[in-house]
Amino acid sequence: ETDEELVARPPVVTVMGHVDHGKTALLDAIRNAKVAAGEAGGITQHIGAYQVITEHEGIERAITFIDTPGHEAFTAMRARGAQVTDIAILVVAADDGIMPQTIEALNHAQAANVPIVVAVNKIDKPGANPQKVRQQLTEFGLVAEEYGGDVMFVDVSAKQGTGIQEVLNAVLLTADAGLDMRANPDKDARGVAIEARLDKGRGAVATVLIQSGTLNVGDSIVAGTAYGRVRAMADENGVPVLAATPSRAVQVQGLSSVPRAGDTFLVIQEDRTARQIAEKREAAERNALLAKARKRISLEDFT
Ligand code: GTP
Ligand code: NA
Ligand code: MG
Repeated sequence: ETDEELVARPPVVTVMGHVDHGKTALLDAIRNAKVAAGEAGGITQHIGAYQVITEHEGIERAITFIDTPGHEAFTAMRARGAQVTDIAILVVAADDGIMPQTIEALNHAQAANVPIVVAVNKIDKPGANPQKVRQQLTEFGLVAEEYGGDVMFVDVSAKQGTGIQEVLNAVLLTADAGLDMRANPDKDARGVAIEARLDKGRGAVATVLIQSGTLNVGDSIVAGTAYGRVRAMADENGVPVLAATPSRAVQVQGLSSVPRAGDTFLVIQEDRTARQIAEKREAAERNALLAKARKRISLEDFT
């Protein structure tokens, strides 16, 4: 890996937090702010991730947001060994303050060594107390910069669209302060499936996050126990993509079956090899299930 050509890639971000604290509202506000800022506002096709471009310290920077709800997806993916996010935005409603799932979410992020940006949301509400949120989180090791710590807190109203640019800036500052955000785009792609489903007309469609290399239409891939040639790719707006580079999430068509969230994927040069790997994995999974079932039966025999 030493003589690889590493190139800067955008940070990949997930939004976590207690139920109803405004995760979806924040993701929508970020997307809307950026669409309103100039892109042709086409029909948004939901693919579980989107990328925004923002000006930061005079430079255009991209950020990828993973859109899957809550920390469930995060946990499911981690259970399969996939680390998809570089940074977690922890959303805390300023009127409620920290709640059980706030703590759960920050525990997940800390366990995965993922830096946190805190979005203190709903500051438009009469009972909002953003300073109290800062004090509460201090106990959990999240100390705001203004209290001498190194965690960026941003006051936000997702509803009114305030503080959104500040959240993007905080994400980029946090990435630049502590992360090596580089990948080699000039090799076969590798990454993670972040969601997938069976579509009536198009068969298995999977949203994959590219982590290194470049994924091209026509590439043969294995994702978990699914395999196939990438027949078509599309971005979050449904626009066809021919080549997807690191930190880009795209929806791919052409897989033999539906991979699971958290399955890793990689390009395999030979179609036949891709199928063989997928089939081997499937057989291994089947055997593991059988072994488990046999164990249960033999235990029952003795009781
Ligand atoms: P779950 O996905 O169910 O866990 O919820 P969530 O965290 O995605 O919260 P969601 O975005 O659905 O927001 C929950 C409620 O809070 C909705 O009624 C939103 O309209 C409201 N809400 C979100 N952000 C704000 C805000 O900044 N101000 C106010 N006043 N209400 C907000
Ligand atoms: Na909700
Ligand atoms: Mg939600």
